[in-house]
Amino acid sequence: MIGVFDSGSGGLTILKTLTERLPDQDFLYFGDHGNAPYGHRSNEQIVELTKVGVTRLMDAGCSLVVLACNTAAAIALRSLQETWLPEQFPRNRILGVLVPMVEAITGVPWSQQNQSPNRDAEKILLFATQKTVASGAYQEEINKRAPQVDLVQKACPGLVDAIEGGAGPMPLRGMIEGFINETDVAGVSTAVLGCTHFPLVEGYFKAALPQHISILSQPEIVADALANYLNRHNHYRTKGTGRVTLLTTGDPKTVNSVSRRFAGHKLIFTRQ
Ligand code: DGL
Repeated sequence: MIGVFDSGSGGLTILKTLTERLPDQDFLYFGDHGNAPYGHRSNEQIVELTKVGVTRLMDAGCSLVVLACNTAAAIALRSLQETWLPEQFPRNRILGVLVPMVEAITGVPWSQQNQSPNRDAEKILLFATQKTVASGAYQEEINKRAPQVDLVQKACPGLVDAIEGGAGPMPLRGMIEGFINETDVAGVSTAVLGCTHFPLVEGYFKAALPQHISILSQPEIVADALANYLNRHNHYRTKGTGRVTLLTTGDPKTVNSVSRRFAGHKLIFTRQ
């Protein structure tokens, strides 16, 4: 069983592509709706909450956990991987969503970081939570691979809250148009939705951005990266039937109805 962690419903966008890409695996999803959004929390709180969620998934038998939350990956992943995991679950692994995105942005894989790639300068626009932007994690990882990439970061405060709160199309569209109007998009070729909640409203981003700007799809890229990882580390591949179990720290009734709106079909979360 593969664990998938998110602060709320956003990671469902990643889970969907993972199940499509890896139909022979079972998945256990942990949505920390009771503590979402993480964007308002201190770094210490995010690290602690991420540890709780990952522990729950690993105690349930997930030896591999995907942090399907850019904010948790930006703030907590490195410290968890370097110190906490080797002490608590030495055989297990945690993967983030940030590095696969940076590899896709730069075209430079992890194994070749710190080498100077032969590519033109490019202006990339990143939409993310305030926490992810403030962490500088995307910038840091991009600099290691392709310092000529000019990264324009735009924090989108309140968007995760609005999505989790079940806001309708009008307010969501209005917020997104507002963020884009505040951003200098001149010369931008590609936009990255660096928050797993944002693909749920990708259509509004697409509609408000100039047509020539393409949007990198995080769910697809993360699913490819995980499939690739499992090919290289076969022992994390388990025998499954595509079963998906959904856990939440929030109120399952509310979470089910918000998640259903975005998933387009019925989802049943259990209070963990
Ligand atoms: N889906 C999370 C992310 O990818 C949202 C974080 C939050 O809860 O603010 O960043």
